[in-house]
Amino acid sequence: MSDAKNLLFLPGDGIGPEVMGQVRKIIDWLAKNRSVNFNITEGLVGGACYEAHKCAVTDETVADAMAADAVMLGAVGGPKWDNVERHARPEAGLLRLRKEMDLFANLRPAMVFDALVDASTLKDEVVRGLDILIMRELTSGVYFGEPRGVEDLPGGGRKGFDTQVYTDAEIIRAAHVAFDLAKKRGNKVHSVEKANVMESGKFWREVVTKLHAEEYADVTLEHMYADNCAMQLVRNPKQFDVILTDNLFGDLLSDCAAMLTGSLGMLPSASLSGKDENGKVRAMYEPVHGSAPDIAGQDLANPLATILSFSMCLRYSFDMGAEADLLDQGVQNVLNAGIRTGDIMQAGMQQVGCAAMGDALITELNKLV
Ligand code: IPM
Ligand code: MG
Repeated sequence: MSDAKNLLFLPGDGIGPEVMGQVRKIIDWLAKNRSVNFNITEGLVGGACYEAHKCAVTDETVADAMAADAVMLGAVGGPKWDNVERHARPEAGLLRLRKEMDLFANLRPAMVFDALVDASTLKDEVVRGLDILIMRELTSGVYFGEPRGVEDLPGGGRKGFDTQVYTDAEIIRAAHVAFDLAKKRGNKVHSVEKANVMESGKFWREVVTKLHAEEYADVTLEHMYADNCAMQLVRNPKQFDVILTDNLFGDLLSDCAAMLTGSLGMLPSASLSGKDENGKVRAMYEPVHGSAPDIAGQDLANPLATILSFSMCLRYSFDMGAEADLLDQGVQNVLNAGIRTGDIMQAGMQQVGCAAMGDALITELNKLV
């Protein structure tokens, strides 16, 4: 038996608990079939935490997340907390975890499974075989920049403001991750900003260009304005390999890239820190989709994005590439077998709920070993 690995589960709100429940099935399966043991503790985040503690995440949970080998998060938010003050809103819990764990590297792959080509709103030839990766900077930019606020103006009237800010060090560490990832994939990076209108964008481009010349001349680098990138993503997404971009543009472009694949319900993500003094990389894995309050608690959610996020967790936090491959293959086989949740349902396929999708995956995993 290998050493236990410490996982913190933060199911959160809406469909979060349902989809995370399917990951537990996988973990039980791994224990039984691969002798891999995970030590799972569970905590509250988002609205679930607000109900218990009047804040979106507690200091204890943040400390647990820092100490865990990896965090698996479901989803946060819902209309129930729309009127809660900003600092206690569900999203604030997520942002605090990202910031305090220093998870600056947000990896959002967008892959089109052959079985789901028809689920995309784009033409078959545009998306078939698509495999791109958005590397979104996650702990700086306008999400965290100061000053921010709403103020009265001296002559009457008011103003609302946020600050977009990036240091060279922040750009460099994000760019390193993008270039290093590209080397293991298609060897191409598109660095995306608005250098034509923003000072911070012009600076971003300068810093990336310098790093590229000094350390990554063997990787193809192209610069692209963010608006053009949004357009190119729907025009010809296969021109991209790795997209390196800031926090806000990454938020927008990753939703756009997600939809190329047909459903937000299929997209995983990993958020990673740099190495700390002990060589440890803190990490949080979560589906790109949100809490989907409209279908929560009805066993309708697609758990595959969360399961694929767990596969990224196996790969990046536990160096368990073989198990991650197994899980990815299992997902592919479930889809090839015609099993679908409602969000990816197609004519002639068999529609199942969230729990049955988890069970179907276990059935496929059993066939694989
Ligand atoms: C995401 C989400 C979050 C973000 C929200 C929930 C704060 O949209 O992870 O993309 O804006 O970063
Ligand atoms: Mg988003």
